[in-house]
Amino acid sequence: MRKRILTGDRPSGKLHLGHYLGSLKNRVRLQDEYEQYLLIADVQALTDNYENPQKVADSVRDLVLDYVAVGIDPEKSTIVLQSKVGAIAELTVFYLNMVSLNRVLRNPTVKSEIEQKGFGDSIPAGFAMYPVSQAADITAFGAHLVPVGEDQLPMIEQTREIVRKFNNLYGETLIEPEALLGEQPRLVGTDGKSKMSKSLDNAIYLSDSKEEVLRKVMSMYTDPTRLKPTDRGHVEGNPVFIYHDAFNENKEEVEELKSRYRMGQVGDVEVKQKLAVAINSVLEPMRLRRSEIEKDQSRVDEILRNGVRRGNEVANETLERVKKAMKIDYKF
Ligand code: TRP
Repeated sequence: MRKRILTGDRPSGKLHLGHYLGSLKNRVRLQDEYEQYLLIADVQALTDNYENPQKVADSVRDLVLDYVAVGIDPEKSTIVLQSKVGAIAELTVFYLNMVSLNRVLRNPTVKSEIEQKGFGDSIPAGFAMYPVSQAADITAFGAHLVPVGEDQLPMIEQTREIVRKFNNLYGETLIEPEALLGEQPRLVGTDGKSKMSKSLDNAIYLSDSKEEVLRKVMSMYTDPTRLKPTDRGHVEGNPVFIYHDAFNENKEEVEELKSRYRMGQVGDVEVKQKLAVAINSVLEPMRLRRSEIEKDQSRVDEILRNGVRRGNEVANETLERVKKAMKIDYKF
């Protein structure tokens, strides 16, 4: 049997190049090696967007389009809409007995999110508990591996603790998952500041047009110490060259640009124009696949329907085993 792999995304906006580099690209590869599940985590997205449900609802279809655009094949990967899998919610309730309040609030990712969001004394309980529901996501599908970035490691650790406690108390029932840490560091934003993100308005989206890509690239932050093209430039840590390394397939061109940049023999305009061409050639096949499926919303419905059906089969089977282990598989 092929090993199971699960990843999830919160539907709360369009996906960008950072998502592509950090995980989507990997998923396209992994779908051939593993039995892959992709969870559209709308219930989790509501934990911090409950006041804005329309955004979450609208993003569900966008996410399916992004998946198909990057090359996720819904026949190979199962795309599951979380809210349609009731077993996840039930498992969450049972797992809440396996963790202490203190432990959840000590989860480093949750802790820093709570600070960022400025909840103060009124932390929504649903938000604080989302790692437990994420443990339910992972175990519901019996995932062996969870490909994640650095910030999600505490979620996997917490899941492993819940699984161990459950299995100790009720007998071997759940699979203890492992994190598969991606090797890509987070992609910087076009502004050169921290990571690419929608809220920082420094993202290039997978759904951006050719013109938008060119416009965004031309206004990218580069080496601030370089005032004219004849000044010697810095390549290391320069977002334009970070992107060249990440997206330009023509490595010779990249090396040549770098050496001219270092010697003060190339202008930003040329470096950026070539970058826009490189990014657009990564995005072009995605645009083609997107425009195909965008025309056919009934195909999107079908993908969601099939994913929900297959997802429920697996998750319900886990739920039954869990209930049996917890002695609540009453028969009457
Ligand atoms: N917490 C993840 C994020 O914010 C999304 C997610 C939900 C997830 N359920 C998951 C990731 C299960 C991996 C496995 O990106």
